[in-house]
Amino acid sequence: MKSDTINISGLNTAALPSHIAVIMDGNGRWAQKKFLNRVKGHEKGSDTVRMVVRSCREIGISFLTLYAFSTENWQRPKAEVSALMVLLKKFLVSERQEMVVNNIRFNVIGEKERLPRDVQEEIQRTKDATKNNDGMNLNLALSYGARSEIVKAAREIAEEVQAGRLPVDAITEDTITRHLYTADIPDPELLIRTSGEMRISNFLLWQIAYTEIAVTDTLWPDFTRNELIQILMEYQGRSRRFGRV
Ligand code: FPP
Repeated sequence: MKSDTINISGLNTAALPSHIAVIMDGNGRWAQKKFLNRVKGHEKGSDTVRMVVRSCREIGISFLTLYAFSTENWQRPKAEVSALMVLLKKFLVSERQEMVVNNIRFNVIGEKERLPRDVQEEIQRTKDATKNNDGMNLNLALSYGARSEIVKAAREIAEEVQAGRLPVDAITEDTITRHLYTADIPDPELLIRTSGEMRISNFLLWQIAYTEIAVTDTLWPDFTRNELIQILMEYQGRSRRFGRV
């Protein structure tokens, strides 16, 4: 162990966020800085995903949602999209057993049906293998976009109204929440974004209304367990007022 390793015992376990969401950004820049192909950045980024999942489980986080592929990412060059799909599949195959052993329940939020068939199959296998686990929920956002998630919710609600099952004045914030991919998940208390960009990038727009945001300049492949713990310590020092005084 390195001498600068931060111990998680410095964290107040009673005040941990129950749900952490992460915008994993900077794989491409990490590779560019090293004169490598962007795919190398995604490969190294996959190792960071493994580390973050393990660390969050160890720390005692109940829900972890990682933005792994946005609806906009389909517009990247074909070779990069294919490489990301291969990495995803590899991740699901190689981590499935560890998720089972570590009591992690796996789920996907997003337009699963747009993903290649073989990736969809590995997703289903991983969901089935982990469905009874209750130690931590790992959600991968894949082909995810918050605006299209809200459109999907609006359409489903409109159908209920049209069918006469839902009076218009019975529509509340809770109605919308229940029609999102995250219906059964609490809103994230903490959103982490790497690589220094001050943007939300169409991620969980409804769910992050009161979320604390932590942006670090570190590129995703360089993000460490120590930095995660440091961010959690800083989060624990903030007071959340939800618009009140
Ligand atoms: C951003 O880097 C990252 C992504 C497009 C998706 C995240 C993907 C991974 C971490 C690897 C595979 C995922 C799993 C779950 C195994 P970027 O390419 O946008 O970086 P840039 O902004 O520097 O170009």
